[in-house]
Amino acid sequence: MKKIIIFDTTLRDGEQSPGASMDIKAKIEIAKQLARLGVDVIESGFPVASDSDFKAVKEVASLVKGPLICGLARAKKEDIDICAKAVVPAKKPRIHVFLATSEIHMKYKLKKAEDEILKQAAYFVKYARNFCDDVEFSPEDASRSDIDFLCRVVEAVIKAGAKTINIPDTVGYAIPLEFGNLIRTIKTKVPNSNKAIISVHCHNDLGLAVSNSLSAIQNGAEQIECTINGIGERAGNASLEEIVMGLKTREDMFKCATSIKTEELYKTSRLVSKLTGIVVQPNKAIVGRNAFSHEAGIHQDGMLKKRTTYEIMKPEDVGFGGTRLVLGKHSGKHAFKERLKKLGVDLSDEDLVKAFERFKNLADKKKEVFDEDLLTIVEDEIVSVPEVYRITGFEYRSGKDIEPRTTVELKKGNAVKKESSSGDGPVDACYKAIEKITGLKFKLLDYSLKAATGGRDALGEVSVRVASTNGVEVSGRGASTDIVEASAKAYVNAVNKFLFTKQRKPTQTP
Ligand code: KIV
Ligand code: ZN
Repeated sequence: MKKIIIFDTTLRDGEQSPGASMDIKAKIEIAKQLARLGVDVIESGFPVASDSDFKAVKEVASLVKGPLICGLARAKKEDIDICAKAVVPAKKPRIHVFLATSEIHMKYKLKKAEDEILKQAAYFVKYARNFCDDVEFSPEDASRSDIDFLCRVVEAVIKAGAKTINIPDTVGYAIPLEFGNLIRTIKTKVPNSNKAIISVHCHNDLGLAVSNSLSAIQNGAEQIECTINGIGERAGNASLEEIVMGLKTREDMFKCATSIKTEELYKTSRLVSKLTGIVVQPNKAIVGRNAFSHEAGIHQDGMLKKRTTYEIMKPEDVGFGGTRLVLGKHSGKHAFKERLKKLGVDLSDEDLVKAFERFKNLADKKKEVFDEDLLTIVEDEIVSVPEVYRITGFEYRSGKDIEPRTTVELKKGNAVKKESSSGDGPVDACYKAIEKITGLKFKLLDYSLKAATGGRDALGEVSVRVASTNGVEVSGRGASTDIVEASAKAYVNAVNKFLFTKQRKPTQTP
């Protein structure tokens, strides 16, 4: 069976989702999970964009074993020099060079003629080959480029040493039949196309990223660029889990395989959602909360008689195991650590101590502690950004005919500050108290609350998305059996992310 190379760009294009900035620790954690998932290539960032992007790519290249590690660079000397330095620690490094080839980009963005673009592309692919044997080239906005010119560029860069040619549908404009034909044309018209892997990179502006990618596979594409949960610039990229399960479930149609361990998909999705703060919609294919839930009586009846009446995939195949009772309040640290290991979570000693303390508190309040609870605790304790503010105290009162009032105590360095406020409900009062302490005012764009497991004593998970007065959007998450406390944690997490984002140099993303 033909093998499809899975190129994951969650850490690069995925990070370009509004509000999805990740620090180095979060990127390494995701990259390690992507390696466990079995992706072939990890695009870990755009090193020239900022010091922290450079460091993140370098750290991932040094620490993550298994997949090829790739960095993105414009067709420019400075970009390629910096990218080469960042990926060099990897056992299998790749430099991904891109340059736009559509008339609209060449005329208005680059202000260059076709011949100049052709020369620049070939020149910098050759230049990148001085540092790295594995060079990928992307003609940005390929799907809106003149096909004859596009073919000339592809031929020239393969001649210059590109081993992978990635055809992006940068603005998500293509439709499946058309995009499949484009890939077939490139494969048949470009005389040296058999000397390179043909890849695709589809955006989801019309909701067609996965369909376009699958159509490309049916027309000869061998590598797919995609992201976990489909996150990415604007409406996002093709979703990795949908492509992989599409290929697996309809193997009869595609006759292709990937090296993805599909049982790791759900866990990877949760981790990315937690560390980027981007919530997965409940009806999202493969990893959404409702993806394997059956509501209608007729469906439930059918399922009980024969699962395949209404299920085309097994939930266990994507790691969507039912929640299982694992530990109780008498369980020790060793059992806790072992259980986490089984769930694929390997914590540092420091994080383990914090997570274990949370587990003990939870086990005191909650009779049954499930795997889902453990994952929520761990996700909540592993902070993805430096914790400038930490909640050290919390109290509220509310009720019929009682004005809601919340008091919050926050610690910043060694200083502890306490403030109270009233509001339209305890959550509003709590956010006002946090504003008083931090001096930062945000507009609440989104607020969602969900239970991590079933049962009245479940952990509540709150996700918020906020905007600062100058329009910077960040998200935050928090979990607790007390939903007002979970709300406070989510808000403080967003404040910390905002402070972290402010510190970073502005990124010039593609
Ligand atoms: O969407 C795009 O064109 C890109 C390229 C850099 C591959 O992200
Ligand atoms: Zn892209």
